[in-house]
Amino acid sequence: MKVIVCADTESVARTAADIVADYASRGATLGLATGSTPLATYAELIRRHREEDLSFAECTAFLLDEYIGLDRGNPQSYYRFIRDEFTSHIDISDERVHSLDGTLDSREELDAEAARYERAIADAGGVDLQILGVGANGHIGFNEPGSPLDSTTRAAELAAKTIADNSRFFDSTDEVPREVLTQGLGTIGRAGHLLLLATGANKAHAVGALTRGPVTPDCPASVLQLHPQATVVLDAEAATDYQANPR
Ligand code: F6R
Repeated sequence: MKVIVCADTESVARTAADIVADYASRGATLGLATGSTPLATYAELIRRHREEDLSFAECTAFLLDEYIGLDRGNPQSYYRFIRDEFTSHIDISDERVHSLDGTLDSREELDAEAARYERAIADAGGVDLQILGVGANGHIGFNEPGSPLDSTTRAAELAAKTIADNSRFFDSTDEVPREVLTQGLGTIGRAGHLLLLATGANKAHAVGALTRGPVTPDCPASVLQLHPQATVVLDAEAATDYQANPR
């Protein structure tokens, strides 16, 4: 695992954008995370598209996860979020941005949707570069603590900590969906390169655990330690536990 500690969030965004741009210019398949952490990176990539001719026209993209119960028009759905914040501002066509359908109700439909997504990723030749954030409890995608390290795309329940953390995007905690569809830890691990971004002091503990702790379902992001090409880009605040505990 390669860990890069940057001075601030702007520098994290530029460092991450350098890595993403290298893949994008080769028409790679990109795995896109939502949440607040990658927003500065997406903004930097949009700037490079507009000002420096960076093209995503040959890229394909797969979202990591989706809330169950939010339709695509809902601004909090990850379908909408990634288009509003990133893909509608670059030259990737909408048909090439794949996402999970969280509007399905029954367990059978959700299981079929998860299986469809696994096949779609495989049919695309796999994800070349997977962008990841990390939850304060160590989740990646919506693989909460306890998720099997070899899990595949599936419906899952959010942890109370994640519901509380994500309530900032909603009018109230009650509005945060309790269930999600998420790529599994095994799915994520099959990407060619994992790029995890973390900024802010509230991520320091999770970053310490994922970089320094044991590989365990208690800290789902610790699976990055098993990956042959994992890059972690941190700002100074998120790096404090990592830097305090040299192995
Ligand atoms: C988002 C996702 C989540 C977030 C994580 C951190 O698609 O899968 O794992 O990356 O919850 O969220 P932020 O960046 O908002 O702190």
